[in-house]
Amino acid sequence: MTAMVKPLTKRPAWKAMAIHYKKARELHLRELFADDPNRGERLTAEAAGVFLDYSKNRITDETLKLLLKLAEECGLRQRIDAMFRGDKINITENRAVLHVALRAPRGASIVVDGENVVPQVHAVLDKMADFSDRVRSGSWKGHSGKRIRNVVNIGIGGSDLGPVMAYEALKHYSDRSMRFRFVSNIDGTDFAEAVRDLDAAETLFIVSSKTFTTLETMTNASTARAWLLQGAQGEEKAVAKHFVAVSTNAAKVSEFGIDTANMFGFWDWVGGRYSMDSAIGLSTMLAIGPDHFRGMLNGFHLMDEHFRTAPFERNLPVLMGLLAIWYNNFFGAQTIAVLPYEQYLKRFPAYLQQLTMESNGKHVTLDGTEVDYQTGPIYWGEPGTNGQHSFYQLIHQGTRLIPCDFIAFFETLNPLGRHHDILLANVFAQSEALAFGKTPEQVKAEGIPEWLAPHRVFEGNRPSNTILAQRLTPETLGSLVALYEHSVFAQGAIWNIGSFDQWGVELGKVLAQRIIPELESTTEPELGHDSSTNHLIRCYRKSREPSR
Ligand code: F6P
Repeated sequence: MTAMVKPLTKRPAWKAMAIHYKKARELHLRELFADDPNRGERLTAEAAGVFLDYSKNRITDETLKLLLKLAEECGLRQRIDAMFRGDKINITENRAVLHVALRAPRGASIVVDGENVVPQVHAVLDKMADFSDRVRSGSWKGHSGKRIRNVVNIGIGGSDLGPVMAYEALKHYSDRSMRFRFVSNIDGTDFAEAVRDLDAAETLFIVSSKTFTTLETMTNASTARAWLLQGAQGEEKAVAKHFVAVSTNAAKVSEFGIDTANMFGFWDWVGGRYSMDSAIGLSTMLAIGPDHFRGMLNGFHLMDEHFRTAPFERNLPVLMGLLAIWYNNFFGAQTIAVLPYEQYLKRFPAYLQQLTMESNGKHVTLDGTEVDYQTGPIYWGEPGTNGQHSFYQLIHQGTRLIPCDFIAFFETLNPLGRHHDILLANVFAQSEALAFGKTPEQVKAEGIPEWLAPHRVFEGNRPSNTILAQRLTPETLGSLVALYEHSVFAQGAIWNIGSFDQWGVELGKVLAQRIIPELESTTEPELGHDSSTNHLIRCYRKSREPSR
């Protein structure tokens, strides 16, 4: 139960924003820049190694003032304090939300239910580091005495997307003599392709699941065990050398047959999509080593501290969260594109999709009242410059407003001739083109025939953020992820929704459990679904591979 709070749309700052929007929507970025020659330097902020240029947004100083007022009226400051204090702000699950404790330095104190959790966090990190060192050095051997060369993470959602994204992002820092694979999908192809060229004797499986009950993960883990035992002539003892678990559920881990000595724990106050820096990041640590992993945690922590302490007008996650609200709730923008100009961040948009949409895809406020405003926008994206040759056309000249986050680094990890200058030229060119476009006069002056001119005009006034850091390091990755985590939190706090549960994924899971026996039954099952679902089930039963 939570106390009723004033509905968002009845707040004075919201009403003032609605009035302000009517004027602001008419303003063009061309004018805003022409009126203030310092805008490009002024509307910037920097923290934890991350630089944000938010000048190419359709805002004035008045917009910012009102957005900041809205944040205050909605109690964002109190919500931040409550999260960092360990209050049970995940009310539907009665849990604290303390991913920030995962990166708190040794010696810090964060108390949950009367206990300081920071020593537990570091105990697990130390255990992970010890294990990682043993695997990486070759002293941890497989059942037949061979060293481990392959690591396969089995998990889904937050137990997969963070690990895959971090592995790809930090590949430059990884041990290239080892192979890392990630199996998430229940589609058998995922597992089959992941292991087809691997030697079981050199393979370690990490079964990553907060609950250790997730259907996809447990099915893949059983298949992995059978595959391993096949290679180990059925020797059950082999499992102990080739399987470790990451979970909060020790009972289920041992039920599966994994020795809990080989289990790395975490806690119910870590949400799945906020867990890549917990033991769920074991594959990341195995890839990059404990020192780099700690570097990543440090980057997270620097951004946490910035979020917790910086005044809102200079607070990167708050500014980004407020800008998202501005476009989502006033301009009616339905999506935000995240466009990393960094090949190593190719899985970053996919990772952000769970973080943002599982968190803020909610239709009721914390007290259960239906909202009368839009909540979480759709996040999507692809690495640049590939997207430019695909969907950017719609961003530039389509009818929808799509705010963009451009992400780039001053230095490349792979200096190769002119590549990096050309890459960065493209980032800067895209945000410039989106903001300023090309007027009919400019088109005419180029001698374009009149009939063609409308097709060649770019309205401009398409907003974007540019996020820059010196170099993609474990630290900057940590800061970048924390920036988005906290931006999502800020948005959810303003919408007054529960950003830390995910009840919306339950119904499909329950219905699938009902349909599985109907598909597997050797006799014709009695079906009680709607006529479409009944028909689909019958078609499948009739048409699936004849071998069954
Ligand atoms: O599908 C929803 C979800 O609960 C996610 O929030 C979570 O990240 C994922 O499933 C995996 O859960 P688990 O780690 O418990 O297997």
